[in-house]
Amino acid sequence: MTSTVAGTGLTERVARTRHLLMCSPEHFTVEYSINPWMDLTVPVDHALAQRQWEQLREVYEGLGHQVEIMPGTPGLPDLVFTANAAVVHDGRALVARFTHPQRQPESAEYLRWFQDAGYSPAAIATEQNEGEGDVLTVGRYMLAAVGSRTSLAAHDELRAFFGLPVIPLELADPRFYHLDTALAVLDERTVAYYPGAFTQASAGIIEQLFAGAIRASEDDAVAFGLNAMSDGLNVVMSSRATDLMKQYGARGFNPIGVDMSELIKSGGSAKCCTLELR
Ligand code: ARG
Repeated sequence: MTSTVAGTGLTERVARTRHLLMCSPEHFTVEYSINPWMDLTVPVDHALAQRQWEQLREVYEGLGHQVEIMPGTPGLPDLVFTANAAVVHDGRALVARFTHPQRQPESAEYLRWFQDAGYSPAAIATEQNEGEGDVLTVGRYMLAAVGSRTSLAAHDELRAFFGLPVIPLELADPRFYHLDTALAVLDERTVAYYPGAFTQASAGIIEQLFAGAIRASEDDAVAFGLNAMSDGLNVVMSSRATDLMKQYGARGFNPIGVDMSELIKSGGSAKCCTLELR
C-alpha cells in the first residue's frame, strides 16, 4: 500500500505484517553441489551459519512478523531454504517437486508441515516445481521461472491449483538458477531485477509489467541483493549489495542488511530462508 507524501512527490511506503516459515539450520551444510555456488572445497562455518540465520529471524520478529519455525532433518542440508517448500496462496499449498535427487526427500517433510498446519489442499506438485524460489506472487498473479528447476508444464499446474494467472520468465544465466536470486518483488508495483539473468524477451516483459523497474548491477546480483524479503516498506536483504540498498532507499523503501555469507555458500540468502504463508 502506498500514498504520496503531500507536496513532495515521494511515495510513502507502508509495511504489512507477514506470516513467515523458516526452518532451523542445525543440519545445514554444503555436502553436494547442485548449483554453481556450492563449492565443496570451501568450508562452511556452521556456528556462524546458525548465528546468521538467528539474526535473520530476529530481524523479522523485530519488524513484527509472525515467524513459524519447522525443525531441520538430518541428511537434508537444504531444508533450511524454505522458499523452496511450496507455493502458498489463500491457504492452499502446492508443495515442491525437486529437480535434484539430493533434495527430493524434502517434499515429504514440507508436505507434513503444511498438512499439520491445516493448509488445504496441501499436495506435492506433479510437475517439477521448486516453490517460491521460482514462483513470486504479485498481488493476484504470479511470476514463474522457466529454468533448470521449474518447467513450463508446472505453470499450467499452478494456474489450475490456484486459479491465478501465471506469467513465465525465462532464466538465462546458471548463477541465477532460481527466480528469487534474480528478481525481488518489493510491492505490487515495484520490482528489482538483474537483466543479465533473463532472456532478452523476458527482461522486456519485466519492463512492460513494471514501469521504472529497479535494475541491479551484476555485482549486487551476485551479492544476492535481489534475494530480498519485502513487507512493502522494509526490505531484508544481503548487506553486501551496497548499491542496491541505496537504490531501494531512494525509492522510499527501508533496506535492512543481514550478513548471510555462510548460507550463500549453498546459493541462498535471506529470501531463500523464508517462505511467506499467504
Ligand atoms: N542449495 C540450494 C539449492 O541449490 C539453495 C536453494 C536456494 N533457494 C532459493 N529459493 N533460491 O537448491
